[in-house]
Amino acid sequence: MFPIHRDRRLRTNESIRSLVRETILTPNDFMFPMFIAEGTNVEVAIPSMPGIFRRSIDLTVKEVKELWSLGIKAVNIYVKVDDKLKDNTGKEAWNPDGLMQRAIKAIKDAVPEIIVMPDVALDPYSIYGHDGIIKNGDVANDETVDALVRMAVSHAEAGADFAAPSDMMDGRVLRLREGLDSAGFQHVGIMSYSAKYASSFYGPFRDALDSAPKESEVKVPKDKKTYQMDYANRIEAIREALHDVEEGADIVMVKPGIAYLDIVREVKNTVNVPVSVYHVSGEYAMIKAAAERGWLDNDKIMIEQLHCIKRAGADIISTYFAKEAAILLNK
Ligand code: PBG
Repeated sequence: MFPIHRDRRLRTNESIRSLVRETILTPNDFMFPMFIAEGTNVEVAIPSMPGIFRRSIDLTVKEVKELWSLGIKAVNIYVKVDDKLKDNTGKEAWNPDGLMQRAIKAIKDAVPEIIVMPDVALDPYSIYGHDGIIKNGDVANDETVDALVRMAVSHAEAGADFAAPSDMMDGRVLRLREGLDSAGFQHVGIMSYSAKYASSFYGPFRDALDSAPKESEVKVPKDKKTYQMDYANRIEAIREALHDVEEGADIVMVKPGIAYLDIVREVKNTVNVPVSVYHVSGEYAMIKAAAERGWLDNDKIMIEQLHCIKRAGADIISTYFAKEAAILLNK
């Protein structure tokens, strides 16, 4: 008998294809990363991320209301900090009246049900553009973790639903859990950036926040390779994710997305908590650049990539395409 299998039967038309489709994408899958700036009525376009803006709190709140109406249930927030407020301790990060704290409060006041996950890392606050406190030429792990705990508790006081540490210090999930609990925030979750690679795909994000590692008279690492992971490694990602689950992470994240889907699948098969994936700024920029030239179809590539990330094992996708994709999926 030739052929033994006629697999094409299940691809005959859209009706049968939709009946057997394994991965269904919905706006509930997305989180939207947002960049926040001081001022009122401020909206600054980010050149390397067409369609993405750095906005003041008032305009951010307006945007969050729109996201909520489109079915998006969570936002990740990042702030652009004035140079005058940067130092090597990161102390502005736990200022109760800081930009982040005011933003969290304003968003939760306007849309109480949306899940707010502020970034927990010192880079926007660091004069050196590093995710922690510099000592003896490198980022000092334990001092940095102490600072992150103060930061996350101040976010929780402002109303954050989750702490989302993106710094890659060792032991930070355990210390954050202890710190949040002892401050009375047992209900605040932790989404840990567990397998975060030292990636060149973060370039446009660092432009958006002016947070890239900087040259300095004191000795500082020129990149983030002493804390973010080596992209050549796979087993290390599993180890990181397992450590974070053991330390109390409610959700673990893999970052970046598309080039790291093998890692997403392995982590998904290893842990028993939800897995999120960060489809990062450089991945967004590549699609936008190719689409502007007419070389790729923005909408088709966006929807395809988001399906692929979910198929690989993502329960949640943090993506700059969240709003665009939600509009398209709601049609
Ligand atoms: C900072 C942070 C970065 C991103 C999220 N949090 C940049 C970095 O680690 O240098 C990158 C996200 C993106 O590229 O979209 N801790």
